[in-house]
Amino acid sequence: MAKSSPVFTCQTCGAVHRKWAGRCDACGAWNSITEETPLSSGPKALGSKGRTIALTDLATEEAPPPRTSSGIDELDRVLGGGLVPASAILVGGDPGIGKSTLLLQAAASFANGGVKCLYISGEEAPAQVRMRAQRLGLGQAPVALGAETNLRDILTTLDAERPALAIIDSIQTMWLDNVESAPGSVAQVRASAHELVTFAKRRGVAIVIVGHVTKEGQIAGPRVVEHMVDTVLYFEGERGHQFRILRAVKNRFGPADEIGVFEMTGGGLAQVSNPSALFLSDRDQPAPGSAVFAGIEGTRPVLTEIQALVAPSPLGTPRRTVVGLDSGRLSTILAVLEARCGIPFAGLDVFLNVAGGMRVSEPAADLAVAAALVSAREDVAIPPDMVLFGEISLSGALRPVTQTESRLKEASKLGFSQAVAPTRSKVGQDAGMRVRQMPDLAAFVGEMFGAG
Ligand code: TYD
Ligand code: MG
Repeated sequence: MAKSSPVFTCQTCGAVHRKWAGRCDACGAWNSITEETPLSSGPKALGSKGRTIALTDLATEEAPPPRTSSGIDELDRVLGGGLVPASAILVGGDPGIGKSTLLLQAAASFANGGVKCLYISGEEAPAQVRMRAQRLGLGQAPVALGAETNLRDILTTLDAERPALAIIDSIQTMWLDNVESAPGSVAQVRASAHELVTFAKRRGVAIVIVGHVTKEGQIAGPRVVEHMVDTVLYFEGERGHQFRILRAVKNRFGPADEIGVFEMTGGGLAQVSNPSALFLSDRDQPAPGSAVFAGIEGTRPVLTEIQALVAPSPLGTPRRTVVGLDSGRLSTILAVLEARCGIPFAGLDVFLNVAGGMRVSEPAADLAVAAALVSAREDVAIPPDMVLFGEISLSGALRPVTQTESRLKEASKLGFSQAVAPTRSKVGQDAGMRVRQMPDLAAFVGEMFGAG
């Protein structure tokens, strides 16, 4: 058989190159390209015939996958109603964000509920994990602990123990002896994840894989694992904030975009079942530049405060600083305000922030962002009992968004008494508040601030 040609893979982004180079064209990383032996050299290598596989049809009745509740509601919600047996779940996040803490709490909770649970740590010694468990008040939970990085040994152990759930913390520390590169490299991470996922499906073990993500979003790990697993959860939060958000970005067994909200306390992660109240609880006195956005995260309405600060810029190119929102979206909204409402931001520094360390990705936040910006620029405060939502199109028109009723209901529950929404929004019978419907941004700005 002809020797297959070598493959050069970037260890940072996973891009494949035909020859070695000092710098990866795809991600710009230096010295990250290494030679790898290809796993398979394609169909040509298939000399002999395979066996026929058994085929079924779509009509066969099958019970929906039974789910096991973790006993932690916020986690169950993100999983789509509980843990599905034989599923592979990736939990990604920045180092130190609390992944190990969350999963140890989850393991203890599952184990206390009678689920056989194995926690394999490749980063910490059993004594360290035990110490943390004691600190979390989980010292008595029947979780089997292991400290190992050799995946072959781990799979052998899993095969012998047959737990219902195994947690592998983290994929970056795991290595397979038949792959010739360091743990944490793309080749090792990909091969290890593949072994784990295959094992999960074959033996009916649910496997949770922990993966670290670096700040630049350059991930030697989770990104190459994402397509292999059934569910991808990201654990996020701003440093210095105690809120942590577990977000489902992919879920084969439930809705994506669902979030679970936690608070990091001295005794581990505590659930936050009413996030709106928490995100708004430490709201300052009504000040210019603050607007409350009635958003939807997954299936749940969440109210967040959008804060803006606008100040004359000493720089030739004014600053645009955004935390918790997409910066491209800010540029668009600034351009629409200038072109359609005659409110220029040239020569002004703009700072935009979502309070509480929350990340907002819904286009429905546009109106609240615009309101916060204009309010900061005109130095006019928005009434403190008002929520806003609506998508802004490039023409300056306001477009209706989904789930208007649940947004209004949540706002009303939290004591808000007026709302601004796009015209043609499906406002229900009794919204519980005064809803002003606006056709476009210029009309809103004119009425609210007398500007434009
Ligand atoms: P950890 O779960 O080790 O993070 P990861 O596995 O994602 O790297 O969490 C580490 C941080 O959490 C650490 O900085 C301390 C903090 N922490 C608390 O504030 N309270 C606690 O009860 C625990 C266990 C950790
Ligand atoms: Mg950890």
